[in-house]
Amino acid sequence: MSHRVSFASPHQDSVTASRTLDAPGQLHAGASMPESAIARRCLVVDDEPRLRQALVRLMQGDGFTCLEAGSGVEALAVLKNEPVALVLSDMRMPAMDGQELLRQLRVGYPDIAVVMITAVAEVEVAVACLSLGAMDYITKPFVFEEVRARVAQALEKRRLLADNRDYQERLEVRVKAQAERLETLFLASIQSLADALELKDPYTRGHSVRVSQYGVAIARAMGLSPTLTAQIELGGHLHDVGKIGVREEVLRKAGPLTTEEYEHIMTHPVLGWRILQPLLGENLVALNIVRSHHERMDGKGVPDRFEGDEIPREARIIAVADAFDAMMSKRPYRNGLTFTEAMAELRRVAGPQFDPQVVDAFFEVARSQSFIPGDAGESETIKLRAPKR
Ligand SMILES: [Fe+2]
Repeated sequence: MSHRVSFASPHQDSVTASRTLDAPGQLHAGASMPESAIARRCLVVDDEPRLRQALVRLMQGDGFTCLEAGSGVEALAVLKNEPVALVLSDMRMPAMDGQELLRQLRVGYPDIAVVMITAVAEVEVAVACLSLGAMDYITKPFVFEEVRARVAQALEKRRLLADNRDYQERLEVRVKAQAERLETLFLASIQSLADALELKDPYTRGHSVRVSQYGVAIARAMGLSPTLTAQIELGGHLHDVGKIGVREEVLRKAGPLTTEEYEHIMTHPVLGWRILQPLLGENLVALNIVRSHHERMDGKGVPDRFEGDEIPREARIIAVADAFDAMMSKRPYRNGLTFTEAMAELRRVAGPQFDPQVVDAFFEVARSQSFIPGDAGESETIKLRAPKR
């Protein structure tokens, strides 16, 4: 490596003292130097000492601290240890020309403004450099006033770009923090509803968690997207939230329900939908599950008497998961069905009651008793996770 790099500035000592001990290959230098100091530092790259000196004197006259290099290779060596805001670079140089230096600067030092210096005959190449990311170019022989104007413009553009980037970064951080806060509040409000229902109806406790798990398994077997699957998971947890509005003696009744009691209980899909709508506003998947999980394919369900494909697919999925878990569960007034019996019952009513495709998908994932969660499902409380939107 050549040692032609010279420090032509009277501030040479302070420059040397501020060098950072970068590891070999580490591109960014001067992490400790304030931006206000970096903004007044430039590197002049030209293999012609006379022209280089002329530019250096000009820049120094304008208050810049100048570094020098005789080629692209030397320029990169200097920049490893010396931060600058501006590089003034000749096009034709040995060891690495200006265009290649520009390429490497865009990658390794995107914050540096680069102004190319070019002979009139090379103007086309200089224009090509603009598309590679040079801020500007100056043609030789240059007029000092023009150099000053171009340099000032390039540095102003660099400052604006940096300001814009800082602003964007700060904005992104704030937006992200706000979104997280909203997500936390959203989940906390829904979690409190789920907690309230669990207190009122202990049966719901393990049930909602298992229904959600079955729903996720079906959604995966049907090849639904992870986003939709996460929303189905949330909807499964919340599908019975409307039971908060059902009379406790009906919810806990240890025996068959009267018609009036049954109708009262079956108001829970609409009640839950009303309760959750302000909270889940944009999350239609979960809302559809809450409202439509007691619809039937033959149109005899509640609350909307939707038929077939009118029933949102997510609700058809949770309907199967819900019914399966209900059949398997032991209630005070009846024993639960066995796994085989429950599966056979699902198959029997696939068509009029359940979507046969959903039942097929459920059979695909629930091949054996081992599919059923063990005791964990009984004791697990609902812990909501944020659905991906
Ligand atoms: Fe329900």
